[in-house]
Amino acid sequence: MGDSITLTDDRTGATVTVPLEADNTIPSSALRALDPGLRVYDPAFVSTASCASQITYVDGQRGVLRYRGYPIEQLAEQSTYLEVAYLLIHGELPTADQLDAWRQDVTIHTYVHENVKHFMQQFHHDAHPMGILVSTVAALSTFYPDAKLIFDAEVRHKQIVRLIAKMPTLAAFAHRFSVGMPFVYPDNDLDYATNFLSMMWRVGSPCYEGDPVLARALDVLFILHADHEQNCSTTAMRSVGSSHADPYSATAAAAAALYGPLHGGANEAVIRMLDHIGTVEAVPAFLEGVKRGEGRLMGFGHRVYKHYDPRARIVKQTADEVFAAVGTNPLLEVALALEEAALSDDYFVERQLYPNVDFYSGLIYQAMGFPLEMFTVLFAIPRTAGWMAHWVELLGDPDQRIARPRQRYVGSSERTYAPAGQRAKGGDGGDTLPPPATARPRRD
Ligand code: CMC
Repeated sequence: MGDSITLTDDRTGATVTVPLEADNTIPSSALRALDPGLRVYDPAFVSTASCASQITYVDGQRGVLRYRGYPIEQLAEQSTYLEVAYLLIHGELPTADQLDAWRQDVTIHTYVHENVKHFMQQFHHDAHPMGILVSTVAALSTFYPDAKLIFDAEVRHKQIVRLIAKMPTLAAFAHRFSVGMPFVYPDNDLDYATNFLSMMWRVGSPCYEGDPVLARALDVLFILHADHEQNCSTTAMRSVGSSHADPYSATAAAAAALYGPLHGGANEAVIRMLDHIGTVEAVPAFLEGVKRGEGRLMGFGHRVYKHYDPRARIVKQTADEVFAAVGTNPLLEVALALEEAALSDDYFVERQLYPNVDFYSGLIYQAMGFPLEMFTVLFAIPRTAGWMAHWVELLGDPDQRIARPRQRYVGSSERTYAPAGQRAKGGDGGDTLPPPATARPRRD
């Protein structure tokens, strides 16, 4: 008995023995050694490691999350978002001098070209801020054509700084536009989170005087959302990045992936769900509906965590601090009752469904005054650091090539074209998506 796996092709009797990597992984080249045409069918990449990464470690069974080896609990308590962004991208925590230089670099890149502002003002008055953000990040590539030089270290660094610096500006502008308020320019005397709050909320007064408790809470949430290894949006970042597109285009793709309700859109969906439930008394009936397949318990479940998401625990503590400063969110008691009921219900226990990072974060955002539509934008701002870290890692990884999965073709065999008048009736004119078996959203 060794740490290897032997595969036998019963058609030919050929065998191949492959050593297991320390993380329980075998290379797909083992299959190709048996038969170059052999494929693994793995929809949604449930058992596929698409890269080797040194950035973030997640142990879903034990509820462990570390960035570059540092436990998330320590970073959330002692670090800042900008320091964590540096850690994710550069691999090490910065020295005091490096941190000062990094902070300064990000701070002086927070402004956007005036034409970006004009561009943003052309959206429809009720455009979702996430749609505005995705489009505007893509548009940034037209402002920085040198960004195409992705193998020039200096140019690459400049775009990384620009993206981290400008995300809060674009996010706040998207909000101000949607409520018809004039844009507030960045204030370079403020720290990252406070500057964002200033651009969001400042009205009239020349400088922003917000509550530092809220700024710190937001910074902690930014730390918690900064990276989460190969999730849907990071996979999009890597996929588009693998074609050597510029980082603005790839980041726009990643942000688009984040927009969906099964990913970053879940924090918004949680509040809509809690609103819909309305009262503690209505919780049992809602859970019964979920179990009948009438919808999902948003903010619950995770592809990797089969235990309490460690970020959810920290978010819950942060919620207490925010509620002490601004008053409790009335939906909190519904959320607590829902969590308690779900965690003692066999359906959720058997499927190992626990609260994830999105379950309580929306309650904090709402208590802080953010409109629902901004919640996913609040996720996109900090996740930019993770996307950048993975993009750099991808470009430097000699094992990586353009992302190009294979498929199992299960369509028609060859048929002969007939002119329109000679064809039997085709489909009903709709698309080819079969009706869903239940009302449940499709799995991500
Ligand atoms: N509510 C009810 N049932 C669920 C849920 C849920 N939230 N999540 C999973 N299940 C059930 C699912 O129906 C399936 O049951 P069965 O085996 O009877 O078919 C089983 O649990 C396994 O689910 P899955 O769909 O195979 O799990 P997945 O790994 O494909 O999906 C997920 C992960 C996060 C998309 C899913 O748990 C979900 O939709 N959760 C709600 C949305 C959400 O909170 N998303 C935020 C994720 S964390 C932050 C982020 O990544 O953005």
